[in-house]
Amino acid sequence: MWWKNAVVYQIYPRSFCDSNGDGMGDLNGITSKLDYLKNLGVDVLWLSPVYQSPGDDNGYDISDYRAINPEFGTMEDFDRMLSEAHSRGIRIVMDLVVNHTSDEHAWFCESTASRDNPRRDYYIWRDADKDGNPPNRWWSAFGGSAWEWHEKTGQYYLHLFSRKQPDLNWDNPRLRDEIFDMMAWWCEKGIDGFRMDVISMISKPDGLPDGRELPGGFTEPDCCNGPHLHSYLREMNERVLSRYSLMTVGECPGAGIEEAVLFTNPARKELNMVFQFEHVSGSRKASARYDKWDRPAMSMPELREVLSRWQYGLEKRGWNSLFLNNHDQPRCVSRFGNDAPRYRTLSAKMLATCLHFMKGTPYIYQGEELGMTNACMTDISQYRDIESLQTYDFLTKQEGLSEETVMGYLQAVGRDNARTPMQWDDSPNAGFTSGHPWIDVNPNYTEINAASQIDDQNSVFFYYQELIRLRHTLPVMVDGRYELLLPDNDQIYSYMRAGNGTEKILVFCNFTKDPAPLPMEISEAFGCGASRLIGNYPDLPQGKMRPYEALAIYIGMKGNDDEIQNEQKNR
Ligand code: GLC
Ligand code: CA
Repeated sequence: MWWKNAVVYQIYPRSFCDSNGDGMGDLNGITSKLDYLKNLGVDVLWLSPVYQSPGDDNGYDISDYRAINPEFGTMEDFDRMLSEAHSRGIRIVMDLVVNHTSDEHAWFCESTASRDNPRRDYYIWRDADKDGNPPNRWWSAFGGSAWEWHEKTGQYYLHLFSRKQPDLNWDNPRLRDEIFDMMAWWCEKGIDGFRMDVISMISKPDGLPDGRELPGGFTEPDCCNGPHLHSYLREMNERVLSRYSLMTVGECPGAGIEEAVLFTNPARKELNMVFQFEHVSGSRKASARYDKWDRPAMSMPELREVLSRWQYGLEKRGWNSLFLNNHDQPRCVSRFGNDAPRYRTLSAKMLATCLHFMKGTPYIYQGEELGMTNACMTDISQYRDIESLQTYDFLTKQEGLSEETVMGYLQAVGRDNARTPMQWDDSPNAGFTSGHPWIDVNPNYTEINAASQIDDQNSVFFYYQELIRLRHTLPVMVDGRYELLLPDNDQIYSYMRAGNGTEKILVFCNFTKDPAPLPMEISEAFGCGASRLIGNYPDLPQGKMRPYEALAIYIGMKGNDDEIQNEQKNR
């Protein structure tokens, strides 16, 4: 279970580092930055898809699972990256996108060839209803009907995402065989795990019934946690996963705690951990017509309630993944912190403190370790993300919302916020490319970049490095129980991690720009011989916690609890 004390770093390859000046990040770019990542201290890299793809959804539409997208390099480049990573003790986890393929995948080409093609049933085909309309009113995640008419064979196919991402039919055992063979092929190459894209959606509900009503005459497809999901995952585990030493994390929209236990309880032999989305979906306290787009942001108390519920809920029953952003989410410092120059560094470190001391496996999304902020795109022509572009069209044209309102939505929660190029230095295009980048660089790269941070002891980078080092050296950070403190404090998020012996870590994070009264617990702890582990101000708080102040303190003897207990026995 090496993944329990690992820290994972997510790379979005097209935005990470471009080695050949074509404006697109690539595998050789990643290889050239392995020393940077080693220096940061992460154990695992999760690569968003690098497979062959027409790029309708930036690689989440795969046309050949066993080939590298030429934009990213060759299979030789991949092999070199893998062995260079391994030689530095860094593992590689691949994105596995098997809810759907590209419509340019050979399987789909065969499936569309004729109704009796042997691979017809690899996808989900249905007749039109009696009026020629799609079989149900499901909405696709990126806009419009989830069904596309196929003239030649006279049926509709299902696509929960774009029309170029037809859904696979997991109920077909031959399809499952092919997927498992492909996974084993990658495992034989020596990769170290899989992040499984929307894996909670692979088993569709019987009869494909309409779900909750949505604007525009559509309904929500109720495809998460379908009837055969867990049996398919157990089959995958038995036939592939259990035969290698892998780390597996399922992307599981729609999963609550009880579902997560089903996925991650080791006795069930499915996955190691899942990504859940309750804490990054906006406030549940308000209703929203357009879901994530017009949902108010989540307040700290709500965030704390959700994260604590997950911490308690999986204790001894499963395992959490810890993340505040990824390639689909706004930047965490802009969303949960404060990206104004005065508070950016402080609040980025505060959020990191809050997340990294929790129980679970932490994920860092590229650039988060620099405190990178949301993109500030002011014109729709700057956007590249299919979800943002299709939503823009739907909301302005069909729903009649103003340009200003919709641009505001995209600026707050659009996926391109996370996809601007990695900011390496203050040279043109942030040192990401010598050519023209596929998406605009955030103009703040002259202030925020890796080169200016790696040797600066006050930088966000340095702080992440220290948090990672602490996780690798303090077992209580991995194994300790989570206990919420100060549950009614509306500025400070505080919790404790407690080992079986005397070891404890107390964490205090002021989520606001206002000073907060100093909790008694801090002075009490120092009265009992506690020591400061890490904090984002150079000294201890006096009287108040300062704006966005974070502090973690350590109580007890450093070292493994078991060691301490043995020591005590031996005395
Ligand atoms: C996941 C990916 C997202 C993609 C979608 C469809 O949510 O993270 O980027 O668009 O699945 O594959
Ligand atoms: Ca390139």
